[in-house]
Amino acid sequence: MIGSQKGFFVTLEGIDGSGKSTLAKNIQFYLQKKNIPHRLTAEPTQNDIGKLIRRMLKQSKQDSLHSLTELFLFSADRTLHIQEMIQFLNQGIWVICDRFIDSTLAYQGRDEKLLKIVYTIGEVLFDLLKPNITILLDIEPEHSLHRIDGREKDFYEQITYLRQVRERYLEQAMDEKSRIKVINGNQHPETVADLAIRAINEAQGQLISARRI
Ligand code: TMP
Repeated sequence: MIGSQKGFFVTLEGIDGSGKSTLAKNIQFYLQKKNIPHRLTAEPTQNDIGKLIRRMLKQSKQDSLHSLTELFLFSADRTLHIQEMIQFLNQGIWVICDRFIDSTLAYQGRDEKLLKIVYTIGEVLFDLLKPNITILLDIEPEHSLHRIDGREKDFYEQITYLRQVRERYLEQAMDEKSRIKVINGNQHPETVADLAIRAINEAQGQLISARRI
């Protein structure tokens, strides 16, 4: 897929309250200024399955949703979303996606028994579409929970749980250093945006050079 892709695919990752939404808006602002055609999107999506997921997450108590149910719902939503995003990318449109496959590896990967299937599905989906760059906003759960205090909390937004998710994200970043750029999410949003945009531009420069060879 990546070979025929003309646009640039950026994903944003991090635990709940890490500042992804603010970063997404700041990146969008930058792309608008540069007149770069782009789409800002997110998972769970605004499509039918995405809406169902959000409803179920709101209704569920801790651990009442089986992790296998979550895995299949998030993956079904993503499979449809990938098809949409590929269409944009093939037209040369940049896609900025708030959460993608790394979210499932980090969140649903918490269940040791599911690890194999979580990674197998992840590989199949990455084969369809892989981010050119992933920005991982790293923040301690204590800080992120402080930020989302006041927002409605679902069971994900709990501290021990988020610690495990954060660890898994950081492990992924160690495994895929060239794709996943870790940025300290405790900094001022403008600093975070500057660092992210610099990393994105660098990755895009490398892609352009690679295509010329
Ligand atoms: P959001 O708060 O970024 O909109 O995401 C909603 C919740 O869904 C968040 O707690 C993370 C969780 N999630 C997963 O567990 N697996 C996934 O694959 C995705 C996309 C989200």
